[in-house]
Amino acid sequence: MAFNNIIISATCLVLTLLLPLASCTKNKQIYVVEFGEHYSEGDKLTSHEIENTHHSYLLSVKGTEEEAQASLLYSYKHTINGFAAFLTPKEANIFSEMEGVVSVRESQSRIYSLHTTRSWKFVGLDEILNPYWEEKSNQTDGDLLEKAKYGENIIVGMIDNGVWPESKSFSDEGMGPVPQKWKGVCQNGTAFGSSQCNRKIIGARYYLRGYESEFGPLDEKEDYKSARDKDGHGTHTASIVAGRVVPKASALGGFARGTASGGAPLARLAIYKACWPLKGKSKDEGNICTDIDLLKAIDDAVGDGVDILSISIGFKTPLPYEDDVIAKSTLHAVKKNIVAVCSAGNLGPLPQRLSNPAPWIITIGASTVDRSFLAPVKLSSGTIIEGRSITPLHMENSFRPLVLARDVVHPGVASEDSGFCLDNSLQPNKVQGKIVLCMRGKGGRVKKGLEVQRAGGVGLILGNNKTYGNDVPSDPHFIPATAVSYENVLKLINYVHSSPNPMAQILPGRTVLESKPAPSMASFSSRGPNIIDPNILKPDITAPGVDILAAWTPKDGPTRMTFQDKRVVEYNIFSGTSMSCPHVSAAAALLKAIHPTWSSAAIRSALITTAIAIDNTGNPLTDETGNPATPFAMGSGHFNPKRAADPGLVYNASYTDYLLYTCSLGVTQKLNVRYNCPKSVHEPIDLNYPSIQVHRLNHTRTIKRTVTNVGRSRSVYKFIAKSPEEYSITATPKLLKFSHVGQKKNFIITVTANRDKIPKAMFDSNKYYFGWYAWTGEYNVVRSPVAVSFA
Ligand SMILES: *[C@@H]1O[C@H](CO)[C@@H](O)[C@H](O)[C@H]1NC(C)=O
Ligand SMILES: *[C@@H]1O[C@H](CO)[C@@H](O)[C@H](O)[C@H]1NC(C)=O
Ligand SMILES: *[C@@H]1O[C@H](CO)[C@@H](O)[C@H](O)[C@H]1NC(C)=O
Repeated sequence: MAFNNIIISATCLVLTLLLPLASCTKNKQIYVVEFGEHYSEGDKLTSHEIENTHHSYLLSVKGTEEEAQASLLYSYKHTINGFAAFLTPKEANIFSEMEGVVSVRESQSRIYSLHTTRSWKFVGLDEILNPYWEEKSNQTDGDLLEKAKYGENIIVGMIDNGVWPESKSFSDEGMGPVPQKWKGVCQNGTAFGSSQCNRKIIGARYYLRGYESEFGPLDEKEDYKSARDKDGHGTHTASIVAGRVVPKASALGGFARGTASGGAPLARLAIYKACWPLKGKSKDEGNICTDIDLLKAIDDAVGDGVDILSISIGFKTPLPYEDDVIAKSTLHAVKKNIVAVCSAGNLGPLPQRLSNPAPWIITIGASTVDRSFLAPVKLSSGTIIEGRSITPLHMENSFRPLVLARDVVHPGVASEDSGFCLDNSLQPNKVQGKIVLCMRGKGGRVKKGLEVQRAGGVGLILGNNKTYGNDVPSDPHFIPATAVSYENVLKLINYVHSSPNPMAQILPGRTVLESKPAPSMASFSSRGPNIIDPNILKPDITAPGVDILAAWTPKDGPTRMTFQDKRVVEYNIFSGTSMSCPHVSAAAALLKAIHPTWSSAAIRSALITTAIAIDNTGNPLTDETGNPATPFAMGSGHFNPKRAADPGLVYNASYTDYLLYTCSLGVTQKLNVRYNCPKSVHEPIDLNYPSIQVHRLNHTRTIKRTVTNVGRSRSVYKFIAKSPEEYSITATPKLLKFSHVGQKKNFIITVTANRDKIPKAMFDSNKYYFGWYAWTGEYNVVRSPVAVSFA
């Protein structure tokens, strides 16, 4: 992702609306002033009372009513207790010395980004439902959906960039009244009236103050000043969670024709638009969300009464919890037993780049489904090379000369840029009438087709480099085109170099079901290890995030190239951990409906311990290289909502357990929660998490865990484990006997290094070795991944 660095800049006064940017006073910046959590009685304060308190604090420093009014950006009430305002450094100082104020921090205006795929967008159409969800398990998951009443009483808060409410996916036909606990609003704005909400989209709000303070007024050609989505991302993610069942949906050109449906088709959606286009940048570089807008969106969602928060947003570099507004605010959400589901990010396959690693969040990686869009390349030698595409254009039935981009660029093009078909790089006299092999890695994928077309070429083959390996994208190009794996790139290069007259033909694309192996990890999915806390294994699980068909906005073409792509589609194919996250949000909604008393930790535990690490060939789930994926890519494996509904045992954790965990890290104070850490605290690793990560193991490590029986009353579970030769995993006791539901059992896991098996020569504490352990009962296997590095 050619993604911007965190932008930290002095901000202008609200008056930017009237004044040119340059005249803004540089000594006024946005600060977040926090008072520490409300006492429990504080929760009874009305919103209005809290706001008044914040206002009077501001007034005491600002002097005049007008100034106080103008400088206040947001009051936060349901997550942190504080406000965001324009202050001078002097005023900030006054606050930091005031009684009751626990912290005053300059807003970093960190840029969070929506988690769609790395380079940039393609898309066509495909079905959102994956085999694990519906196609193969019609009856069984049907039961699940029925038991959960299709999620009808569950409210999912989408923290994203809006929604296209007229999509058929958001029809409220036949839906019952809005749940009574709902306290949200339907905020009007540009092209979005309060009547736009219905029994499906029950609330909608938008947050622009942070964005406009940082970047100036929203360019209304680029987005709506309302909860309406001009981009497509928010519409797509919302329909993945809770889109209605829409038969015969398909993408451009009829790809992936089938029934589109969200995972919880009757769940209610509450839309919180906090992300906006980054001015003058292409969309893959930025849809951005500033921290104070994001914090307010989550704050409102918590106050409005959502059950699930679905957040397909993250940042480029993992941030410590106290600097990470998603981590900070979702901790408060978990206190109210709201489930927070977040994307792991699209910065894979390099390690250590994962977003949203806090243990109170469910962190989701992305993998493929068993549907692919095959558009093979036929060589004049007769060889057929597999390719993928959702391009609705066919080449005439004849062979065309095949050339490599690097052989047909203008002489001035730098050699490191020559393979990529960047704008104006190809020589028309060498490309006219030909098919060009262009490499992925630099420049937009669909734009390469435009460059080939500009130079008179007739077809594009998009080639993976070695890093992308087998992770082949399916894009809706503007000219006949297909994409091939790295291995096939080598075959094509070999053919071009060895044949006197290389000729090829791109065959029409078609949708193929039951393709194998699937699922397989997407190379873009961000990988662990978790560098914020190496005691917590992340991501938690993986879910479908490649070529997902879901609803779209008519205001943006399927490629998201707003100004070039005028094609209008109702459904679009899109990839990213942004798409896998809402799959799990939907699953969490169903689980919550079936088990209303479960904590958010229990829901996460159920999802993690029942996930499947095997693909549809019966082999270990692989990554883009074809090797078995590790838990740093897939967590415990691919989610399986049906199994998660009946996990047998769960690893529970309460809000207090998370606070004790923050005590063990020594960060409680920095999070401004009101909690006195006990003198002796556990180790962070003893947080009752359904997976285990041991960092820098010396010799032996013991880890405490507790499971709660949520299955049959009388049951017996046996311990089993699989570890690599570098260490062993044992449990005490080895047998857990339960006599009633709700019963808890403690056990201790011991991880022991086999020092003589660890390569001594090059010690690397970031090199992890993977295993797992499980409690196996008559009906359930409760499996936990284990990752260990050595000191
Ligand atoms: C799915 O279930 C419905 C209703 O029970 C049944 O009519 C249909 O044949 C099933 N489809 C498959 C693929 O099993
Ligand atoms: C929002 O609704 C109110 C009341 O109907 C109206 O006065 C106002 O102009 C609307 N604002 C926008 C931006 O549409
Ligand atoms: C492939 O392209 C990506 C994106 O530009 C780059 O990060 C990676 O290093 C490349 N891999 C190889 C082997 O060139």
